Amino acid sequence: MTEKNCRPPATCEIDTTVPHPARMYDYYLGGKDNFPADQEAAERVRKAVPFIQTVALENRGFMHRATRTLAGEYGVRQFVDIGSGIPTSPNLHEVAQDEAPECRVVYVDNDPMVLDYTDVLVLSAPEGCAGSLQADVRYDAVLDHPDLLSLIDLDRPVALSLNAVMHFVPDEDAPYEIVQSLVDRLCPGSFLALSHVTSQFDPEAWATTEKIYRKAGTPARARTEKEIRTFFAGLELVDPGLTSTHLWRPGRDQGETTASESSMLAAVARKPFRPTATAQAASPLSVNESREPRSGS
Ligand SMILES: C[S@@+](CC[C@H](N)C(=O)[O-])C[C@H]1O[C@@H](n2cnc3c(N)ncnc32)[C@H](O)[C@@H]1O
Repeated sequence: MTEKNCRPPATCEIDTTVPHPARMYDYYLGGKDNFPADQEAAERVRKAVPFIQTVALENRGFMHRATRTLAGEYGVRQFVDIGSGIPTSPNLHEVAQDEAPECRVVYVDNDPMVLDYTDVLVLSAPEGCAGSLQADVRYDAVLDHPDLLSLIDLDRPVALSLNAVMHFVPDEDAPYEIVQSLVDRLCPGSFLALSHVTSQFDPEAWATTEKIYRKAGTPARARTEKEIRTFFAGLELVDPGLTSTHLWRPGRDQGETTASESSMLAAVARKPFRPTATAQAASPLSVNESREPRSGS
């Protein structure tokens, strides 16, 4: 892992008087795990971006389809979801374990309240496991954390999900280097699934939104298509490549969302195989592992 950014003091406390991105997102999705400060800030965002609920829902849709594709089509059995958010059913482990009950999932978020909810709400299939970990992708060597390593074998393929989180990492915190160092820790044949708010359809609305988040103490940065594509440097994009969230392998019941209304770009990409490891790493995992003691049930 490369040297991490310096952590500012007191980033680990729950303060419900200050809007937090996880609880604002929960509000956009129609959830109940949010407080007046979150609701007020979320309503200010809704003024700038009236379709913010669609943005959130289409992002969830991408997460569901990407996870199902990774578990079903590519045989991935280990998932690390950074910036996992307050669990909203179906959450990532439910989708993955619906494809293969033995899937092992670790949820990571920097909001301690998210982890409290995760520990209460996440119930793994008995054949697999689901754990949680509080960490900040800007400051912590997430993939070197002993709790994560007790559940995830980094010598086997992992799907790393960074959905709707890297837009909370500003340029000064070196977002591309962070993603690169995470991907460097994964073995070839692993995947990166990443979605990110794009400013390209309505730069003014997203500049206003950035200001609302920043005022609440959360750095936010909507990025252009070119900037978002940079997160996938050195990886092989899986079909259909980088698209609006609603256009990534859309389901049959997909609605009439426009690219502007989804306002996020997303892709799944594979870490190329080393020539000597190709055959082994490419084969689907055959695991039959029991639930871990530190499961999030
Ligand atoms: C918009 S929610 C996305 C939730 C989920 N990944 C999804 O796509 O539906 C963003 C989540 O990222 C978390 N987050 C924001 N900055 C983070 C950071 N630096 N490290 C870890 N998690 C972070 C927030 O607490 C929040 O739960």
